[in-house]
Amino acid sequence: MLDKNFLWGGAVAANQYEGAWNVAGKGLSVADVMTKGSAKKPREITAGILPGKEYPNHLGIDFYHHYKAEIKLFAEMGFKCFRLSIAWSRIFPKGDEEKPNEAGLKFYDDVFAECLKYQIQPVVTLSHFEMPYYLTKKYGGWRNRKMISFFLKYAEVCFKRYRGKVKYWMTFNEINNLIDTDNPFNAWTGAGVVYSENENVEQTMYQIAHYQFVASALAVQVGKRIDARNQIGCMLHLGPIYPASCKPLDQIASLKAMDRRFFFSDVQIRGTYPKYTLKHWEKQNLNLDITNKDLENLKKGTVDFLGFSYYKSTVAEYDEKNTYVEKANPHVPKSAWDWAIDPVGLRYILNLAYERYQKPLFIVENGLGAFDELKDETVNDDYRINYLQEHIVQMLKAIEIDGVNVIGYTPWAAIDIISASTGEIEKRYGFIYIDLEQVKKGAAGFYRKKSFKWYQHIISTNGDCL
Ligand code: BG6
Repeated sequence: MLDKNFLWGGAVAANQYEGAWNVAGKGLSVADVMTKGSAKKPREITAGILPGKEYPNHLGIDFYHHYKAEIKLFAEMGFKCFRLSIAWSRIFPKGDEEKPNEAGLKFYDDVFAECLKYQIQPVVTLSHFEMPYYLTKKYGGWRNRKMISFFLKYAEVCFKRYRGKVKYWMTFNEINNLIDTDNPFNAWTGAGVVYSENENVEQTMYQIAHYQFVASALAVQVGKRIDARNQIGCMLHLGPIYPASCKPLDQIASLKAMDRRFFFSDVQIRGTYPKYTLKHWEKQNLNLDITNKDLENLKKGTVDFLGFSYYKSTVAEYDEKNTYVEKANPHVPKSAWDWAIDPVGLRYILNLAYERYQKPLFIVENGLGAFDELKDETVNDDYRINYLQEHIVQMLKAIEIDGVNVIGYTPWAAIDIISASTGEIEKRYGFIYIDLEQVKKGAAGFYRKKSFKWYQHIISTNGDCL
């Protein structure tokens, strides 16, 4: 039996669904200069807005103008919570202003009021693949220590303004994406940084991570001071990287691969740098700007819970030069975008994370990106129902058999939105289908999929029907 307060809901991110990119004083964000891509064509990061390019995040699904109707649908599904993010560039359009943009703050007053009207708790991420573009131009993004104070000010304004309305917060979405420096998407969306060819990329990456750790730890302290009821978490992208075989060296490969993935929560939950990282820095001769005061703050600002997204698993094979190489898992099927589908991996990662930290876990993203066909005003998305059902069953096993403390589950996504990695609407995750052509004409353009009713039933039985 799940706890009666279990947080069933759905998740989204401001830059992918709000639209209204330049409305009511909102500034340009890093997501606003990313073009549309596809599974085969990476999104481009352009120098400002260029004519002739398509920028899908500008319109999103225009939630900004339809939030009442859409929150009403979430209430109809029975959501207990709604995970969303605040667009930093709506609150501080450039990022370094003295005063926040009142119209931006007001928008979230309205959104939260609408959620609370239906007893839906907002679960808020402060930085989800979105930050003021100006900060990247003027300060070089998170390469710069000054970012800590800009972020802290933004966080403090939000904690004060939404005191009593929001209890669950997360600081940086999938902060551990930074570790993968090969994909330019990660440093740009996570930190407003484009690496140059002649820099020590690893050193810059760890420096960015350090500044974000300090910013997050300071935000936790301020958030708790403003309201002791606040629960503030970190947010990681998690999934098992299994050993490729039972060869002992493949176990080491998997262990090391998982350390790299957990490095971020090791710092944010334990408040100190793990020994394996300190050794690595020493070996690589990395020289980071880390002060004693920073280290004190990391200790004082540890998080209350670990929020994470779960989509897929991979495997690690031992490699003499790089310790391991990550490969596709040959034992599980794949989505149309080549993401491995591995429900058992969710139970596995829940156990692994809980054994490591003994902190509450919150699954704040999990879902299937698929091509959907709208027919007779609905979508017959049995594939999505199967995917989610198999994952929920594994979550229930982790809770009921293994004793893992999971506080909530918010599938990605509550509604179809623009895909982060490809910029398409065609990679759909939601319980609600969005016809973007209708949205472009000013309509809300939504249709309930088959999974809508299915999820409504799961929530109303608190998972007992499975
Ligand atoms: C997570 C992000 O990485 O995965 C979301 O937090 C994102 O913002 C989700 O949308 C799914 O990825 P994608 O690229 O299919 O949209």
